[in-house]
Amino acid sequence: MKEYLILFAQAHPNFRQAELESLASINKISVDLSHHDETKPFLKISLNNDDEAKQLISRSILTRAIYELWAEGTTYEELHEQIKENCQDYIEIYSHCSFKFQFEGYKGKQTNSSKVKTIESFKYLDFKGKIDLKNADETFTVLEDYEVIQEGKSKKPIYIWFGRQVELSERTKNNLVEVFDLKKRGYIGTTSFEAELSLVTCNLAQVQKGSIVYDPFAGTGSFMVTAAYFGGVAIGSDIDVRMLNGKNGPQNIKTNFKDYGLYSQFLDILTMDFTHNALRDDFVIDTIVCDPPYGVREGLRVLGAKDEEKAAGREHNIVEGEIAHLRRDFVAPKKPYELSDMLHDLLEFASKRLPIGGRLAFWMPTADDDFNDTIIPQHQNLKLNFNLVQNFNKWSRRLLVYIKMDESYIGETTDGLKELNIKNFRERYFKKFSEQSR
Ligand SMILES: C[S@@+](CC[C@H](N)C(=O)[O-])C[C@H]1O[C@@H](n2cnc3c(N)ncnc32)[C@H](O)[C@@H]1O
Repeated sequence: MKEYLILFAQAHPNFRQAELESLASINKISVDLSHHDETKPFLKISLNNDDEAKQLISRSILTRAIYELWAEGTTYEELHEQIKENCQDYIEIYSHCSFKFQFEGYKGKQTNSSKVKTIESFKYLDFKGKIDLKNADETFTVLEDYEVIQEGKSKKPIYIWFGRQVELSERTKNNLVEVFDLKKRGYIGTTSFEAELSLVTCNLAQVQKGSIVYDPFAGTGSFMVTAAYFGGVAIGSDIDVRMLNGKNGPQNIKTNFKDYGLYSQFLDILTMDFTHNALRDDFVIDTIVCDPPYGVREGLRVLGAKDEEKAAGREHNIVEGEIAHLRRDFVAPKKPYELSDMLHDLLEFASKRLPIGGRLAFWMPTADDDFNDTIIPQHQNLKLNFNLVQNFNKWSRRLLVYIKMDESYIGETTDGLKELNIKNFRERYFKKFSEQSR
């Protein structure tokens, strides 16, 4: 085993470990990540080889890079001692490669002139290859963790690592979070899901090349495009045809796929009430990724009439000689529905339609003062793999990721979600969570 150092992006620290666990599991890599400290962007791990290091972080969104760790310490003296003592083999291997030095600092950084001095202190490495700032064969990196001290005072790193860069993540290499930024996307709506966490969701859902990914509440298709980026073949449905086709102008989900050069990964979009799902029973769905309607920015409705009796009376309505509800232009009545019921339906659907090992990932809102563990929906055939929270002011949303298990697994079931406070989310959201929960 060799030691590696992961450098994380400064975003969503509580999602980092889960993302890496998920990517390790896709690539069948055994790695201990349990000592990750969310307050720091550095994590030292052990892996068998560089290939594992590359696989582990290459498609990750919350890491920036991984380094083969040569030495570490609280001072440069300690660092240099270790390199001289333990790294002769490494130095030999890279002695004739073109190379460059690079610095990464957390809560502080060196000035350009002090960087030059630091680089000079590594002179004993005696690399013979040429220095190449653009296309170096190898990049040697100094990573520094600075102490937070008073403004204006000179800073000193409290810990230093030195290593060889093995891989940059997709985030760094392809600038993915920027590329999928909603501000740059042709078609978006009020419910479009932000780029960074859409990409992370697809990693936690283990979207794989060629797998069928279904978003039952597709809206403007945020998860469809990010799933497609990771090689998924995306299909979406939504009760609101205007969402799928675009409300104003020519831009819509399909044009987004074309803009991103991902149209080959677009399977289809369907106008459909999820609770009256028309997808064939034998249609294979590998992964389900979605953001169900909270009933806040969008309606949470299903097909059906509020007043059944009244609707029954209209069953025989005739328009231009035809039974009204059989005409192509018939707009079916819709009635309100509860989020808790919709989540129950979603888990039931996933338990029937996913293959063993298939994943369901969705976001669920909760008012912070209402939350207790029993609110998490559970299904006996689905194992809850991740439950990660993103906090807003007075409310949060949780990313829940489940794995479809085989018959031998009998997990927890939550019935009676209706009785829980999730029911009141919409009402409390508009009252800005000012009242105590009931
Ligand atoms: C939170 S939004 C999802 C937004 C989407 N992730 C996006 O990127 O735009 C929820 C969506 O669920 C849809 N919806 C509401 N009730 C539905 C139902 N019964 N069946 C299917 N879709 C429904 C809404 O029209 C809305 O587009």
